Amino acid sequence: MKGYHIAVVGATGAVGQEILRVLEQRNFPVASLRPISSARSAGKPVRFRDEPVSVQQLNEYSFEKIDVAFFSAGGEISKKYVPIAGQADAIAIDNSSVFRMDEHVPLVIPEINADDARRHRGLIANPNCTTAITLMALFPLHRAFGVRRIFAASYQAVSGSGVRAINELTQQTKGATQDSTVYPHPIAFNVLPHVDSFLETGYTKEETKMQNEARKIMHLPQFCASVTCVRVPVYRAHSVAVSAEFERTVSLERAREVLAKAPGLELVDEPQNNRYPMPLSVTGKDNCQVGRVRLDCAFENGLSFWVSGDQLLKGAALNAVQIAELL
Ligand code: A2P
Repeated sequence: MKGYHIAVVGATGAVGQEILRVLEQRNFPVASLRPISSARSAGKPVRFRDEPVSVQQLNEYSFEKIDVAFFSAGGEISKKYVPIAGQADAIAIDNSSVFRMDEHVPLVIPEINADDARRHRGLIANPNCTTAITLMALFPLHRAFGVRRIFAASYQAVSGSGVRAINELTQQTKGATQDSTVYPHPIAFNVLPHVDSFLETGYTKEETKMQNEARKIMHLPQFCASVTCVRVPVYRAHSVAVSAEFERTVSLERAREVLAKAPGLELVDEPQNNRYPMPLSVTGKDNCQVGRVRLDCAFENGLSFWVSGDQLLKGAALNAVQIAELL
C-alpha cells in the first residue's frame, strides 16, 4: 500500500491507543504500522484497521525505514529515542514536554501556527493538553482583540494521569477503598489544587506551561498567564475557566461571531437553556467547545469564558496526527 511507514512509541498507552484510532478514523495514509512499547507489552497485539498488529519492544533499531514516529511514552523515552529516530531519518512528533521550549523545535497547534511546522528539523512537539484546549478558544479572540493576559483555573480529568488514576477514581467512588497511590489525597468526592509538582514560584510545572507554551505558539512573548491547575473527579476531558484581558475594545457580539467560526471549536452558549460545554459532552469528540462567554466585570477590555476539550484527542493524539497531516 502507498503511504507512510509509521511508528507509535507507547502504542499500548492511553494516548498511543488514541493515536492508532485517530490514524484509522482520519484515513491517514499508513503503508505500515509499527506499534512500540516496553518489554511488558512486547508481543501483545494492538488492533489497527481490524487487524491485530504485534507490539515490538523499543530498541535502537525501532526507527529503521520509518517515515513518521509518534512518541507518547513519557519524557525519558523521548529524550533518549527522539535523537535515535532522527538518525534514522524518521520525523518525530513528540507528546512529551522535553523539547517543547527548544528554539529549534516547532510547537504546533495546526489551527493556530501550522506554518511553524514547516520549519522543522526532524522533530515537532505537541503542546501541553490544557494549553492546547485553552488556546483553541483564546487564539481566535486574540486575533480579533489582541490578548494581553489571562487568569484561569483548569478542571482536569484523571485520565491525564494514566490508567492507574482511572482505576483509583473508580475504586474510591465505589467506596472500595480510600487508599491513594497515584494522587497524594483521595480524588473521589474531592478536588486537588495541583496536577503536578510545585516550583519555587509557588506555581506548578503544568501552570507554568500555559504561559511559556502559549507565548511560543501565539508568537506573543509578552503574554502572561496566571493559572491554577486543578484535578477533578472526572474520567476524561479537561475544562478551563478563563478571564482574558485584551488590547482592543471587546464586543460580545464580535467575540461570539469569532468563536462560532473558529476551526476545531464549537460555540455552545445558551445559558438560559443550561447549554454550555461539559466534559461529558466533549468526550470522544475532535472539536473543543466554548461557552459561558461574557464581558468580564474585572477587566476593562475583558472576556470570561469556559472551554472544554477531550485532552486525549485535541490535547494529544488528534493534534499529533493533525501535525503529521501537515507534513
Ligand atoms: P507498556 O505497555 O509496555 O508499559 P500510559 O501513559 O497510558 O501509562 O502509557 C505509557 C506507554 O509508554 C505505554 O505504551 C508503555 O508501554 C510505554 N512505555 C513505558 N515505558 C516504556 C519503555 N521503557 N520503553 C518503551 N515504551 C514504554
